[in-house]
Parts: sequence; C-alpha cells; structure tokens
Amino acid sequence: MFEQVSTLEAQALQELQSAPLDLAWLQDFDVRVLGKKGLLTLLLRETGKLPDAERPAFGARVNAAKAAVLERLNALRAQAEGQALAARLAGERLDVTLPGRPMVSGSIHPLSRMQAEIAEVFQRLGFNVESGPELEDEFHNFDALNVPADHPARDGMDSYYLTVPGKAGAERKVLRTHTSPVQIRVLKRRKPPIRMIAPGRVFRRDAVDATHGAQFHQLEGLAVDDFGKVRFSDLKGTLESFTRLMFGRRLGVRLRPSHFGFTEPSVEVDVQCFQCQGSGCGLCKQSGYIEIGGAGMVHPNVYAACGLDPEAYSGFAFGMGVERIAMLKWGINDIRLFTENDPRFLAQF
Ligand code: FA5
Repeated sequence: MFEQVSTLEAQALQELQSAPLDLAWLQDFDVRVLGKKGLLTLLLRETGKLPDAERPAFGARVNAAKAAVLERLNALRAQAEGQALAARLAGERLDVTLPGRPMVSGSIHPLSRMQAEIAEVFQRLGFNVESGPELEDEFHNFDALNVPADHPARDGMDSYYLTVPGKAGAERKVLRTHTSPVQIRVLKRRKPPIRMIAPGRVFRRDAVDATHGAQFHQLEGLAVDDFGKVRFSDLKGTLESFTRLMFGRRLGVRLRPSHFGFTEPSVEVDVQCFQCQGSGCGLCKQSGYIEIGGAGMVHPNVYAACGLDPEAYSGFAFGMGVERIAMLKWGINDIRLFTENDPRFLAQF
C-alpha cells in the first residue's frame, strides 16, 4: 500500500509537469487528485486494512504525498494567475500620451433660449405667460379674429388643414397659422384686466427662404383693460421698451401702417437690420429694416366674438416672429440654420 501511494504521487507529479497553465484545468486536477473523493484522499480510507502499528506511518505518508502534490499545484496556479493578470493588463493598457477625446454635451436650442429671454423681458413689463393648442379650430384661428371667410390666409394654399375624429364625427382643423387664437381663448376665459404673452409654434404654407420657414415661432401679446385705459401710445411704449431691453439702443424701431382683421388701427413693427444697420443689404431686401411683427388696437368684433362688450374695453395686441428676433439679436443670416441641427451652429449658443 505504501508503494501505491508512491506510484500515485509520482503519476500526479508527472501529470503536473505537462499541465497547461489554465486555472480551470488545475482546479479540476485538484478535485480529481486531492479533493474529498480524490485519488490520494481515497487511499486514506484503506488505512483500516493495515495493522495498527503501521497506520500512523501510512497516514503520514499519504499526507506527505498530498502536500508534495499540492505544493506543485499551487506553484502552477500562481504561474497561471500571473499569466492571466499579464494578459488582462496588456489588454487594458492605457497610452496616456494619446490625445483626449472631447466631451460633447448638449445645449438648450437657441429658439428655446430666445423664447425664454423674450418671455423674461415681457414678464418684467408685467405680462404673464399663456398657451394654446397647435391644432386649432377655424373659429379661434380665423372667425373670432374677424378674418373674413374669403380672406386668402384661409385658403388651403396658405394654411395646413387636417380632418380629425371629434365628438360629432370628423372635424376640420387647421394647424394654427399664428399665435393670435390664444388671445381668443384667454378673452373667453378671463375678464380684463389682461396682460399676457403666448409664445408658440405656428405653421404656414410659405415658400422657405433665408427669412421664411413653413414652421416657425411667434410670440403673441395682449393687454386689455377698461375702455380708455390702454391706448395706442401704450402699445408703442411697450414695443419700444421691449426692443430696448432685447437689443439695447443700437437698433431703431419703425411702425408702418398695416392691416389685420383683428386690430384697428394696425401696424407692422420693423427693427433696423443688424447686418447693414439700416443702409440696405440682401438680407433686408435693401429696405434697411427687418419686420419682426404685427400689432394694433384690438378690433371691437374680437371682443364681441368672445362675449365681451366692445364699448367697455380697449387694448392692444401684437405678434412677433421669434426666429426673426433671434436673427437680429445674434446676427444669424439664415432662418434655416435653426432647423438644420448642425452641431457647429448649435454649439455657439
Ligand atoms: C400675424 O401673424 C399676426 N397674428 C400678428 C398680430 C398679432 C398682429 C396681434 C396684430 C395683433 P404676420 O403674418 O405679419 O402677423 O406675422 C407676424 C410675424 O411673424 C412677422 O412679422 C414675422 O416676424 C413672422 N413671420 C411671418 N411669416 C413667417 C415665416 N414664414 N417664417 C418666419 N417668420 C415669419
């Protein structure tokens, strides 16, 4: 039996000589030879077959064989671990001399920033912020705003119409062509005094060029109080305060007579062109000014459409193009840049 121990020990040590440096294989070997049911361990169960006097020596011999095999096995394990670690380190090697990769972080879109800045200026002037739906009905977008049934803006060539399922079957809706329908919603909901602004997206079948989009943003303003309290001079003063706070004193403001169904009198609001400072260039089509909005005194028919007495109230309204204001403020010469999502453009804001 002592010989059997020596043979098994020699076989095991020999097997380890050609063992692969593989931790899984070595673990397997450990179980097979030294484990609870391993070849060398099983020999200990034979101890009972020996005379009493030889038993301690046999036990010691088996344990010595196990210790010799374990020592060799552990040495191989250490080697295998070293090799595995070296391989991992080689794979993870970091060349600190390589140039770094810049971190790309997103930013608030310039139009969102512009809307927030404009809203802040008007909030300082005492206006609060309202909103309305982008998909409107013709009553709010046209009828209540005193836009005649045959006005060209109502034409399908100028506005986007959709048929959507409603409570009473299919309903014809229009993608709002301006933010003025929010005026109607507020006048129907609340009694004056009112000083509100409503920033938002609008849609028109306009030919796209450097200053026109088919989808753009407007900012509506409305100030209404008891008759005689809000006058045209208040409108002019408010617009001048706005442009001064928004652009500083550098750019001049010009009001031109105009026509809107929902205001009387009506004006067009122009600001001096940032590119030529008023002398005329391609951007302002040689006029020296860029139109930023329309404005006027609220038409009596608008109050009537909202269930208010036109004799009891007076007020002004305005609607400005947010893109146009952003272009003036930041010297942007093409409105399409806002929607092209070129990171080189967006990163500047
Ligand atoms: C209106 O939309 C009126 N609702 C404004 C108004 C409100 C007048 C309240 C009176 C009282 P207008 O169509 O002129 O008006 O447009 C207003 C502004 O929107 C223009 O001055 C311009 O700055 C901007 N705008 C108009 N069309 C476009 C377009 N296609 N792309 C970009 N901006 C535009």
